[in-house]
Amino acid sequence: MSKNIFYKYEYAKDILETELHIRLKEFERKSGYLPVEHIKSRIKSESSINSKLEKKNLEVTTENIFNNVDDVIGFRIVVSFISDVYDIVKEITNSKILYIKEKRDYILEPKDSGYSSYHLKVLVPINIEEKEELIPAEIQIRTVAMDFWASLDHKIRYKFKEDIPEDVQKEMYSYANDIRKLDQRMYELNIVMNKYDEKM
Ligand code: GTP
Ligand code: MG
Repeated sequence: MSKNIFYKYEYAKDILETELHIRLKEFERKSGYLPVEHIKSRIKSESSINSKLEKKNLEVTTENIFNNVDDVIGFRIVVSFISDVYDIVKEITNSKILYIKEKRDYILEPKDSGYSSYHLKVLVPINIEEKEELIPAEIQIRTVAMDFWASLDHKIRYKFKEDIPEDVQKEMYSYANDIRKLDQRMYELNIVMNKYDEKM
């Protein structure tokens, strides 16, 4: 990545990290509950950015990166239950700092692979030389079970590149269904557990 824009992504990542932490603390303060298992973040490597642009038949220019790679900054929030995903999405959407550019609910509509997750594409305002610039970032929110599936799927994709054997694809697709059912059952059990708390 040309050095002259890299710092903008660093600034935006810091701002986004702080804002996400504040939103999560605010959620905890209001609900008395913090469902987050872990958070990961990264800035996409120069080689991944280049290969993404190549796939889209675009030259590696600052403008093309800005306009065509919206996940140079990536955050992943892993939570316990499906309901937590939607609660956290709502809390982030309430931010007065971030601009919500796009919401993609791959839990309601999983990808053909079986991939399930909630994606928020946001714009993070940064101030440089007395001007405001909006820097794109992607936030993925998913359950531990979805994260387990996605990390194995990622390894498979890395190993086989474009040609994943059909039996492997089918197997992964059926695991995605298993995980969906498990997430639903865990969610229901949690509701039962909460009722026990009320009685105590
Ligand atoms: P990209 O150009 O790939 O970023 O696609 P997009 O901008 O249309 O976004 P999309 O929501 O489809 O996917 C973006 C990110 O979601 C990827 O970089 C992955 O981290 C994740 N993702 C999407 N599909 C899959 C999948 O089938 N398996 C896994 N493991 N991850 C996926
Ligand atoms: Mg993307």
